[in-house]
Amino acid sequence: MKGKSYASRTEVKDNDLYHTPECLTTKLCEVEKFKNPHEPACGDLAIVDPLKRAGYNPTFTDLERGVDFLNGDIYLKGSDIITNPPFYLWDDFIKASKKLKVKKTAFIGRGNYFGTYDRYASGLFDGLKKVYYFNRYVDYRTPRRKDGLFHVGAMLTGWFIFERGYKGDPAIKYMDVQDYAKLGMYREEDYNILEFLGISSTWFPDMEIDCQFIMDKIEKEFHFKYTIKQRKDAKDISKVLLYTRRSLKI
Ligand SMILES: C[S@@+](CC[C@H](N)C(=O)[O-])C[C@H]1O[C@@H](n2cnc3c(N)ncnc32)[C@H](O)[C@@H]1O
Repeated sequence: MKGKSYASRTEVKDNDLYHTPECLTTKLCEVEKFKNPHEPACGDLAIVDPLKRAGYNPTFTDLERGVDFLNGDIYLKGSDIITNPPFYLWDDFIKASKKLKVKKTAFIGRGNYFGTYDRYASGLFDGLKKVYYFNRYVDYRTPRRKDGLFHVGAMLTGWFIFERGYKGDPAIKYMDVQDYAKLGMYREEDYNILEFLGISSTWFPDMEIDCQFIMDKIEKEFHFKYTIKQRKDAKDISKVLLYTRRSLKI
Protein backbone atom coordinates (compact mmCIF):
# COMPACT_ATOMS: atom_id res chain seq x y z
CA MET A 1 0.00 0.00 0.00
CA LYS A 2 1.34 3.41 -0.75
CA GLY A 3 0.01 6.67 0.58
CA LYS A 4 -0.24 10.29 -0.39
CA SER A 5 -1.08 13.46 1.44
CA TYR A 6 -4.57 14.63 0.77
CA ALA A 7 -5.72 17.91 2.19
CA SER A 8 -4.19 20.88 3.89
CA ARG A 9 -5.82 22.30 6.97
CA THR A 10 -7.52 24.96 4.94
CA GLU A 11 -8.85 22.71 2.20
CA VAL A 12 -10.42 19.93 4.22
CA LYS A 13 -13.20 18.37 2.19
CA ASP A 14 -16.29 16.71 3.57
CA ASN A 15 -15.88 13.16 2.33
CA ASP A 16 -19.12 12.00 3.78
CA LEU A 17 -17.94 10.72 7.15
CA TYR A 18 -20.78 8.82 8.71
CA HIS A 19 -20.39 5.95 11.11
CA THR A 20 -21.53 2.44 10.68
CA PRO A 21 -23.23 1.45 13.94
CA GLU A 22 -20.95 -1.17 15.43
CA CYS A 23 -23.71 -3.75 15.81
CA LEU A 24 -23.96 -4.06 12.00
CA THR A 25 -20.37 -5.32 11.71
CA THR A 26 -20.68 -7.52 14.79
CA LYS A 27 -23.79 -9.11 13.28
CA LEU A 28 -22.05 -9.55 9.93
CA CYS A 29 -19.20 -11.44 11.60
CA GLU A 30 -21.72 -13.87 13.07
CA VAL A 31 -22.83 -14.99 9.59
CA GLU A 32 -19.84 -14.38 7.27
CA LYS A 33 -16.13 -15.23 7.46
CA PHE A 34 -13.40 -13.03 5.99
CA LYS A 35 -9.78 -13.56 5.04
CA ASN A 36 -7.38 -10.75 6.06
CA PRO A 37 -10.09 -8.07 6.08
CA HIS A 38 -9.16 -4.61 4.85
CA GLU A 39 -11.26 -1.46 5.47
CA PRO A 40 -10.44 0.99 2.63
CA ALA A 41 -12.62 3.90 3.81
CA CYS A 42 -12.13 3.41 7.52
CA GLY A 43 -13.17 6.85 8.85
CA ASP A 44 -12.56 6.65 12.57
CA LEU A 45 -12.60 2.85 12.72
CA ALA A 46 -16.28 2.18 13.43
CA ILE A 47 -16.04 -1.01 11.33
CA VAL A 48 -12.45 -1.85 12.27
CA ASP A 49 -13.05 -1.96 16.03
CA PRO A 50 -15.86 -4.56 15.96
CA LEU A 51 -13.83 -6.60 13.45
CA LYS A 52 -11.04 -6.68 16.01
CA ARG A 53 -13.47 -7.73 18.71
CA ALA A 54 -14.59 -10.56 16.41
CA GLY A 55 -11.02 -11.85 16.38
CA TYR A 56 -9.70 -10.31 13.14
CA ASN A 57 -6.59 -8.23 12.69
CA PRO A 58 -7.86 -5.85 9.99
CA THR A 59 -5.77 -3.40 7.99
CA PHE A 60 -7.35 -0.04 7.21
CA THR A 61 -6.87 3.06 5.05
CA ASP A 62 -8.89 6.15 4.12
CA LEU A 63 -8.62 9.11 1.79
CA GLU A 64 -8.32 11.25 4.92
CA ARG A 65 -5.30 9.16 5.91
CA GLY A 66 -3.70 9.62 2.51
CA VAL A 67 -4.87 6.56 0.56
CA ASP A 68 -7.40 6.96 -2.24
CA PHE A 69 -9.14 3.65 -2.89
CA LEU A 70 -10.35 4.83 -6.28
CA ASN A 71 -7.17 5.86 -8.00
CA GLY A 72 -4.88 2.86 -7.65
CA ASP A 73 -3.17 4.08 -4.47
CA ILE A 74 -3.75 0.72 -2.92
CA TYR A 75 -2.29 -2.74 -3.40
CA LEU A 76 -4.02 -5.62 -1.68
CA LYS A 77 -2.88 -9.20 -1.76
CA GLY A 78 -5.28 -11.84 -0.56
CA SER A 79 -7.42 -9.43 1.45
CA ASP A 80 -11.18 -9.33 1.58
CA ILE A 81 -12.78 -5.91 1.79
CA ILE A 82 -15.34 -4.64 4.27
CA THR A 83 -16.52 -1.07 4.20
CA ASN A 84 -19.29 1.47 4.15
CA PRO A 85 -18.21 3.83 1.37
CA PRO A 86 -19.81 7.22 0.75
CA PHE A 87 -23.08 6.32 -0.97
CA TYR A 88 -22.42 8.70 -3.86
CA LEU A 89 -19.23 6.72 -4.60
CA TRP A 90 -20.77 3.28 -4.10
CA ASP A 91 -20.57 2.15 -7.73
CA ASP A 92 -16.98 3.39 -7.99
CA PHE A 93 -15.98 1.46 -4.87
CA ILE A 94 -17.53 -1.74 -6.28
CA LYS A 95 -15.70 -1.25 -9.59
CA ALA A 96 -12.40 -0.55 -7.78
CA SER A 97 -12.65 -3.70 -5.65
CA LYS A 98 -13.41 -5.77 -8.77
CA LYS A 99 -10.43 -4.24 -10.52
CA LEU A 100 -8.27 -5.25 -7.55
CA LYS A 101 -9.59 -8.81 -7.99
CA VAL A 102 -10.75 -8.94 -4.38
CA LYS A 103 -12.21 -12.35 -3.58
CA LYS A 104 -14.88 -11.28 -1.13
CA THR A 105 -16.31 -7.82 -0.59
CA ALA A 106 -18.88 -6.61 1.93
CA PHE A 107 -20.34 -3.15 1.37
CA ILE A 108 -23.14 -1.38 3.15
CA GLY A 109 -25.55 -0.36 0.40
CA ARG A 110 -29.07 0.92 -0.11
CA GLY A 111 -32.06 -1.20 -1.02
CA ASN A 112 -33.08 1.07 -3.88
CA TYR A 113 -29.81 0.42 -5.73
CA PHE A 114 -31.65 -2.46 -7.40
CA GLY A 115 -34.00 -0.03 -9.10
CA THR A 116 -31.37 1.41 -11.41
CA TYR A 117 -31.28 -0.21 -14.83
CA ASP A 118 -27.71 0.92 -15.58
CA ARG A 119 -26.35 -1.13 -12.70
CA TYR A 120 -27.70 -4.30 -14.32
CA ALA A 121 -26.74 -3.30 -17.84
CA SER A 122 -23.16 -2.50 -16.85
CA GLY A 123 -22.74 -5.73 -14.86
CA LEU A 124 -22.16 -3.90 -11.57
CA PHE A 125 -24.10 -6.58 -9.70
CA ASP A 126 -22.12 -9.45 -11.23
CA GLY A 127 -20.74 -11.53 -8.39
CA LEU A 128 -23.33 -10.28 -5.89
CA LYS A 129 -24.01 -13.40 -3.84
CA LYS A 130 -26.07 -12.22 -0.87
CA VAL A 131 -27.73 -9.16 0.57
CA TYR A 132 -28.43 -9.00 4.30
CA TYR A 133 -31.12 -6.36 4.72
CA PHE A 134 -31.34 -4.75 8.14
CA ASN A 135 -34.84 -5.18 9.48
CA ARG A 136 -34.88 -1.59 10.78
CA TYR A 137 -34.02 1.59 8.89
CA VAL A 138 -30.62 2.78 10.12
CA ASP A 139 -29.92 6.51 10.34
CA TYR A 140 -26.19 6.81 9.67
CA ARG A 141 -26.07 10.29 11.17
CA THR A 142 -26.12 8.60 14.58
CA PRO A 143 -22.91 9.66 16.34
CA ARG A 144 -20.58 6.80 17.03
CA ARG A 145 -21.57 4.89 20.16
CA LYS A 146 -19.90 2.01 21.96
CA ASP A 147 -23.23 0.28 22.60
CA GLY A 148 -24.06 0.03 18.87
CA LEU A 149 -27.50 1.66 19.19
CA PHE A 150 -28.72 3.78 16.27
CA HIS A 151 -31.38 6.31 15.41
CA VAL A 152 -34.09 5.08 13.10
CA GLY A 153 -34.16 6.69 9.67
CA ALA A 154 -36.12 6.19 6.47
CA MET A 155 -33.75 4.25 4.26
CA LEU A 156 -33.51 0.50 3.68
CA THR A 157 -29.86 -0.59 3.82
CA GLY A 158 -27.96 -3.81 4.21
CA TRP A 159 -24.70 -5.66 3.67
CA PHE A 160 -24.05 -6.48 0.00
CA ILE A 161 -21.71 -9.47 -0.27
CA PHE A 162 -19.84 -9.92 -3.54
CA GLU A 163 -17.76 -13.01 -4.29
CA ARG A 164 -15.44 -13.09 -7.26
CA GLY A 165 -16.57 -15.66 -9.80
CA TYR A 166 -20.03 -16.15 -8.28
CA LYS A 167 -22.67 -16.63 -10.94
CA GLY A 168 -26.39 -16.48 -10.29
CA ASP A 169 -28.89 -14.32 -8.49
CA PRO A 170 -28.21 -12.96 -5.01
CA ALA A 171 -29.86 -14.55 -1.99
CA ILE A 172 -31.87 -12.06 0.05
CA LYS A 173 -31.62 -12.40 3.82
CA TYR A 174 -32.70 -10.48 6.90
CA MET A 175 -30.27 -9.23 9.49
CA ASP A 176 -32.05 -8.73 12.79
CA VAL A 177 -31.01 -5.42 14.33
CA GLN A 178 -34.18 -4.72 16.25
CA ASP A 179 -32.38 -4.74 19.63
CA TYR A 180 -30.25 -1.78 18.54
CA ALA A 181 -32.99 0.45 17.09
CA LYS A 182 -33.74 2.17 20.37
CA LEU A 183 -32.89 5.83 19.93
CA GLY A 184 -35.95 7.02 18.01
CA MET A 185 -35.66 9.47 15.11
CA TYR A 186 -32.47 11.51 14.77
CA ARG A 187 -32.97 15.21 15.47
CA GLU A 188 -30.05 17.55 14.87
CA GLU A 189 -31.38 19.85 17.58
CA ASP A 190 -30.84 17.10 20.20
CA TYR A 191 -27.11 17.43 19.77
CA ASN A 192 -24.48 20.02 20.51
CA ILE A 193 -22.13 19.94 17.56
CA LEU A 194 -18.64 21.36 17.82
CA GLU A 195 -16.07 21.11 15.05
CA PHE A 196 -12.45 22.06 15.36
CA LEU A 197 -8.95 20.95 14.48
CA GLY A 198 -6.40 19.84 17.04
CA ILE A 199 -3.28 17.77 17.26
CA SER A 200 -4.01 15.31 20.04
CA SER A 201 -6.61 12.59 20.35
CA THR A 202 -6.08 12.30 24.09
CA TRP A 203 -8.04 15.39 25.09
CA PHE A 204 -11.32 13.54 25.15
CA PRO A 205 -10.44 10.10 26.43
CA ASP A 206 -13.92 9.14 27.54
CA MET A 207 -16.12 11.00 25.07
CA GLU A 208 -18.02 9.76 22.06
CA ILE A 209 -16.35 11.76 19.33
CA ASP A 210 -15.71 11.57 15.62
CA CYS A 211 -12.08 12.01 14.82
CA GLN A 212 -10.54 12.20 11.36
CA PHE A 213 -6.85 12.27 10.55
CA ILE A 214 -5.88 15.06 8.21
CA MET A 215 -2.48 15.45 6.66
CA ASP A 216 -1.36 19.05 6.82
CA LYS A 217 0.78 19.60 3.75
CA ILE A 218 2.13 22.91 4.97
CA GLU A 219 3.23 21.82 8.43
CA LYS A 220 3.81 18.23 7.27
CA GLU A 221 2.11 16.69 10.24
CA PHE A 222 -1.09 14.86 10.96
CA HIS A 223 -3.93 16.69 12.62
CA PHE A 224 -7.21 15.47 13.94
CA LYS A 225 -10.52 16.95 12.94
CA TYR A 226 -12.97 16.53 15.76
CA THR A 227 -16.69 16.56 15.55
CA ILE A 228 -18.25 16.25 18.94
CA LYS A 229 -21.88 15.39 19.03
CA GLN A 230 -23.42 14.71 22.35
CA ARG A 231 -27.05 14.65 23.29
CA LYS A 232 -28.05 17.90 24.93
CA ASP A 233 -29.61 15.94 27.75
CA ALA A 234 -26.45 13.88 28.38
CA LYS A 235 -25.21 14.22 31.94
CA ASP A 236 -21.60 14.91 31.08
CA ILE A 237 -22.11 17.58 28.42
CA SER A 238 -20.63 20.19 30.71
CA LYS A 239 -17.45 18.09 30.83
CA VAL A 240 -17.24 18.10 27.03
CA LEU A 241 -17.65 21.83 26.88
CA LEU A 242 -15.06 22.30 29.61
CA TYR A 243 -12.52 20.12 27.80
CA THR A 244 -13.24 21.91 24.54
CA ARG A 245 -12.82 25.36 26.02
CA ARG A 246 -9.60 24.30 27.73
CA SER A 247 -8.19 22.77 24.56
CA LEU A 248 -9.10 25.71 22.39
CA LYS A 249 -8.24 28.20 25.13
CA ILE A 250 -11.58 29.98 24.71
C1 LIG B 1 -19.63 6.89 5.17
S1 LIG B 1 -17.98 7.15 5.81
C2 LIG B 1 -17.71 5.56 6.50
C3 LIG B 1 -16.57 5.45 7.46
C4 LIG B 1 -16.36 4.03 7.98
N1 LIG B 1 -16.18 3.11 6.86
C5 LIG B 1 -17.54 3.57 8.77
O1 LIG B 1 -18.27 2.74 8.29
O2 LIG B 1 -17.76 4.07 9.87
C6 LIG B 1 -17.09 7.18 4.30
C7 LIG B 1 -15.57 7.26 4.42
O3 LIG B 1 -15.04 7.17 3.09
C8 LIG B 1 -13.87 7.92 3.01
N2 LIG B 1 -13.58 8.14 1.59
C9 LIG B 1 -14.23 8.96 0.73
N3 LIG B 1 -13.68 8.87 -0.50
C10 LIG B 1 -12.68 7.96 -0.42
C11 LIG B 1 -11.74 7.43 -1.35
N4 LIG B 1 -11.74 7.83 -2.62
N5 LIG B 1 -10.83 6.53 -0.91
C12 LIG B 1 -10.81 6.14 0.38
N6 LIG B 1 -11.68 6.60 1.32
C13 LIG B 1 -12.60 7.49 0.92
C14 LIG B 1 -14.20 9.16 3.81
O4 LIG B 1 -13.03 9.82 4.22
C15 LIG B 1 -15.01 8.56 4.97
O5 LIG B 1 -14.17 8.26 6.05
